[in-house]
Amino acid sequence: MTPESSPHPLIATVVGARPQFIKAAPVSAALHRAGLAERLIHTGQHYDTAMSEVFFQTLGLPEPAVHLGIGSATHGAQTGRMLEAVERVLLDWRPDLVLVYGDTNSTLAGALAAAKLHIPVAHVEAGLRSFNPHMPEEINRVLTDHVATVLFAPTDAAVANLAREGITSGVVRTGDVMFDAVLRFRSAFAPASAEVVARHGLIPKRYALVTIHRAENTDDPARWNGILEGVRRVGADGLAVVWPVHPRVGERAHAVASANICLSPPLSYFDTQSLLMHAKVVITDSGGLQKEAAFHGVPCVTVRDETEWVELVEVGVNVLAGTEPEGIVRAVRQAAWPAAGLQDNLYGDGDTANRMAQYLRGFLSAAIPA
Ligand code: UD1
Repeated sequence: MTPESSPHPLIATVVGARPQFIKAAPVSAALHRAGLAERLIHTGQHYDTAMSEVFFQTLGLPEPAVHLGIGSATHGAQTGRMLEAVERVLLDWRPDLVLVYGDTNSTLAGALAAAKLHIPVAHVEAGLRSFNPHMPEEINRVLTDHVATVLFAPTDAAVANLAREGITSGVVRTGDVMFDAVLRFRSAFAPASAEVVARHGLIPKRYALVTIHRAENTDDPARWNGILEGVRRVGADGLAVVWPVHPRVGERAHAVASANICLSPPLSYFDTQSLLMHAKVVITDSGGLQKEAAFHGVPCVTVRDETEWVELVEVGVNVLAGTEPEGIVRAVRQAAWPAAGLQDNLYGDGDTANRMAQYLRGFLSAAIPA
């Protein structure tokens, strides 16, 4: 492919990890509707079928134009290999904008490769902060925001975080595309959702959905053992538990499997949403699940000490429980959906992806005179 054969304006989107496929689905569709050409670069950060391919099959995402096949490695090696490989593709395509999502190593590599080539970067989920510098995600998102030209900030808190770091230009308060995704796909997963619950041997509103994958939890023995013991006690307390196990955790979760605690391989987006919408409570360290629980009106217990989605804690639909077993069990027992519920438009109105596409169309037509 030569630069001359690339359509213009062209958006190159860099994805690589599971949550990015979910976020990209509504945005890709909106870019297409807005008449913008987009090509996907898949870094290969997530490579198992259950972590990647199944999302492309079900979410209507365009096939990646290139798959870099980088795979797992240490942070420096993984990010470095991605940086080199993404740069090669960008030099070939010469896109007018690079679109990146969230806070993974794929996000940072895509943003850095583009910025060094003076290609504008648009960052979806800009401005989120945990203020925990030990999280690889925090490093990725801070650095990405500081090289981005267009910063799609999902919340007021995200806009304020950017302003505190001196970033005010190019910031667009958008809403959250994961909310768009739930609305967009609800008619596809909701009708079969009760069957998914039954297939896991569960009864609606009588189980907890557990997901754990953050390095800060899985790679710290004290935190990991606290979470494992907390989940074991939740099961022993009489609440059924279903836990789709992330590959980072693997067999280490097997120690808690019991009649009341069912472990499963990673699930598709539709099956996850199905189990989520009928759960009594969610126990997670995932950013995406914290929001999705709220979209479905399910209380969330977050096994972390801080969250980027502070508004959920403020309105009382999410509790930061830490990783001590007693704290987890107490939070699960007390978890309830508050009468006031969620404020309207907290994460937009479900049309966020379209607004991003319109913004990018305006941005690109200003940048590239006809
Ligand atoms: C990454 C992101 C995290 C995001 C998460 C979503 C970074 C630093 N972290 O974490 O922000 O929330 O994705 O899942 O980018 N593995 C497989 N098969 C796969 C993918 C991973 O077996 O398809 C295993 C490998 O052993 C790998 C480990 O999981 O070493 C971790 O994978 P990696 O993508 O590096 O980080 P995640 O924990 O998935």
